Amino acid sequence: MKSIEICNKFLSFFKSKGHTIVPSSSLIPDNDSSLLFTNSGMVQFKDVFLGIEKRNYLRATSIQRCLRAGGKHNDLENVGYTNYHHTFFQMLGNWSFGDYFKYESLQWTWELLTQIYGLSIERLWITVYITDDETYNIWTNKIGVPKERVIRIGDKKNSPLYTSDNFWQMSDTGPCGPCSEIFYDCGSTFHGNPPGSKENFGNRYIEIWNNVFMQFNKEINPKTGSIKLTKLPKYCVDTGMGLERLASILQNVYNNYETDLFKTLIKAAARETNCNNLKNNSLKVIADHIRACVFLIIDGVFPGNEGRGYVLRRIIRRAIRHGYKLGQNSIFLYKLVKDLIFNTYIIYKELKISVIKIEEILKKEEECFRKTLKYGIKILENILLTKPDKLDGKLAFILYDTYGFPIDLTIDICKEHNVSFNKNDFILEMEKQRNNARLNSKFKDIKLNINNNYIIDQETKFIGYKLKTYTSKIIGLYIDTNSVKTININQEALIILDITPFYAESGGQAGDIGTIKNDFALFVVNNTKKIKKNIICHYGILKYGILNINNNVVASIDTSYRKKITRNHSGTHLLNRALREVLGEDIIQKGSFINSKKIRFDFNYNKPISHKNIQKIEKIVNKEILENNPIKIKLMSFNDAINFGAIRLFNKKYDKKVRVVSIGKSIELCGGTHVKYTGDIGLFKIISENGISSGVRRIEAVTGEKALLVMQKLSNIFYEITSELKLPPGEIKKHIIDMKNNIKLFESELYKIRFQFMLNKIKSLLPNVININGIKVLISTLDNVYNLPINKIVNELKNQLKYTIFFFITIKEKKNNLFASVTPDLVNKIKANELINFIIKQIGGKGGGNPNTAQGTGSKDKNFKYITKNVINWIKKNNFN
Ligand code: ALA
Repeated sequence: MKSIEICNKFLSFFKSKGHTIVPSSSLIPDNDSSLLFTNSGMVQFKDVFLGIEKRNYLRATSIQRCLRAGGKHNDLENVGYTNYHHTFFQMLGNWSFGDYFKYESLQWTWELLTQIYGLSIERLWITVYITDDETYNIWTNKIGVPKERVIRIGDKKNSPLYTSDNFWQMSDTGPCGPCSEIFYDCGSTFHGNPPGSKENFGNRYIEIWNNVFMQFNKEINPKTGSIKLTKLPKYCVDTGMGLERLASILQNVYNNYETDLFKTLIKAAARETNCNNLKNNSLKVIADHIRACVFLIIDGVFPGNEGRGYVLRRIIRRAIRHGYKLGQNSIFLYKLVKDLIFNTYIIYKELKISVIKIEEILKKEEECFRKTLKYGIKILENILLTKPDKLDGKLAFILYDTYGFPIDLTIDICKEHNVSFNKNDFILEMEKQRNNARLNSKFKDIKLNINNNYIIDQETKFIGYKLKTYTSKIIGLYIDTNSVKTININQEALIILDITPFYAESGGQAGDIGTIKNDFALFVVNNTKKIKKNIICHYGILKYGILNINNNVVASIDTSYRKKITRNHSGTHLLNRALREVLGEDIIQKGSFINSKKIRFDFNYNKPISHKNIQKIEKIVNKEILENNPIKIKLMSFNDAINFGAIRLFNKKYDKKVRVVSIGKSIELCGGTHVKYTGDIGLFKIISENGISSGVRRIEAVTGEKALLVMQKLSNIFYEITSELKLPPGEIKKHIIDMKNNIKLFESELYKIRFQFMLNKIKSLLPNVININGIKVLISTLDNVYNLPINKIVNELKNQLKYTIFFFITIKEKKNNLFASVTPDLVNKIKANELINFIIKQIGGKGGGNPNTAQGTGSKDKNFKYITKNVINWIKKNNFN
């Protein structure tokens, strides 16, 4: 049965049981910061389980793209060593949101597997959570599975509660519950024991389907680390079956990599790595990883050094390493993109990025890593040449951290050189570094990082979209992490008000500054940040007086500071829109920071933006500014906003009601402050454009007065140039080119003159030659050598001389620079490099060269006389031998 048929049968079966077919969600979980990647079909329904979100159906089914690399469910290291593990895979699933429960779910699972897919009943084994009698009874009594094939599984020994394979959780917190898994027995030709046996490793019993009975929400107390399970508002069902595994059984191959989902890719990987053995494990790695890479890129992840981008980078590097293992030394991975896209059964509707772009991103990353690979291998092999017994963990860490050299590659290479390596040393080193990083990052925010558990729980009402000043009440006062009743003069503190006009840093917009005062006291606010969900903290210093809890105060923001931020924020929206217009609609915002000084905007793009395009972008933004259209801000439901065409940030959690800001052609979900009319922005000017990581560019820009200042500064520079050169602006460029050419010409003339000068000087020294047993020796100091090639100059003389040694000493950068050269007829007897080495030994330093010419640098402590004496002695000694 082909995979596509497996999928269709699954969906239509559940449709016939009243389920709504829901499309796959992105690999990047929406509105969920607790999870790196969508690791199962239930992720898009998490809030439905928790009762936070309602859908207009109670039963759903889908085929979800999933990734298990990083986080709680991580199969990255297993890929290549088994026939069943993947980073990227597809999960068939069905869900009940407070509708049916255990019986229906298990009954349908059984019906689909045995009747629709036709699996033999005798081959199916079941596991249930140890205390889940209800599920056990349904399987054995109602469905009729023989008791010996229904196995109860408990929590893992010496582990915290609920760590059983039969208690499923999406991540360390969130919806969870006991589960029941169905295994398929591939037959006695395979090795392995039934599930639950002490040693059940092997490929004989394959887990195919998991039925989770979502009953709890798991929370962890951040202070004590203790686990709390609370009952979900309604019991739910969450099931998941890996398409790849099911296909391996229904296609009778018992190996995911031999199914129709992988065959083409394995062949393509073999083609690109010139590998003849289609069963080679490295091919599995490459075939698996190209799927993960391509679908991650499609969902907006780009290789980088942090978070998701870093996981993608690791996957790409692992694939390249396996290509390298197969002997492929050139870039190859990107060549598999077409094989995947054109043969995959799932062409997702939202595939917005072109094949060429995906190829470009992979190619660039590969090119970069090739260098790392070459460089890292060189460094490592040099170390291994010294034949250490053991590789130092610190060294492996430096290779990994500084050069991006994968640790598993270090292990492989050590193995090849019979050098032992303890991965724990490496892990220890990494922990050390992480702790340092953690300490550093905590330190920065220590004042605002006040213990969330102690801070008052009342949300602050924000009225600062309209009002700039407000009479409020102090409801919280904190010094460092302590709640206090009073603050005194010169004390740094944190104030919480019941109502505030201060905007707290969020959505990339900096927090407001201003004052909080009454008749007796003045508190200057330096920053405003949010903690928990909506508690606004004003951080600053009491300049005079005393402030007490419950005091009424007038809170006023610095309006000119806010105005600047606001201009920059509206300008950012226009920039975002213009970038899409000029560089393509697939531009995705990767981050932004907006303060009173400038706009910083990061986005995906993998090459520098040309000057021409920078100007186009500026033009589009300034055109919108000139049109002076009003900015429209509306509150609407999240879904309405998306339908309205609003763009939003991936990875950001939005409320049900969202604020939609329309500025000209730009529509964005945004909680920030904005100008009333685009004309209020005044002027927009880009001041820099740089790459900040692979595939991510950063634009910095300014607006309003600041933009004018930047333009004036540029025009001042230009004015100074034209007045200095006394030329009209139109002639400047030509003049500079001419000047550059002239300089080149002068430099080459100067070189020739200096060369000749030095040649003459050395010639003039020839009468000083001394004779040592028939050898002529010229020893001298040389001044003003600049960067002249003494070697070449001496060579000109050597043709005319016989049996001569030159030895020059110049003092440069407080060092004795030594130069020795020997005429060819003497080289058999006297070797320049041996002479230099000898002198270096006497005075300390380093040197090298060949028998004809050698050079060295030594300490300046020994004078000319000392060196001359040693040169003469050495020549005498060597000449006699
Ligand atoms: N969410 C469950 C799993 O991934 C079905 O196993």
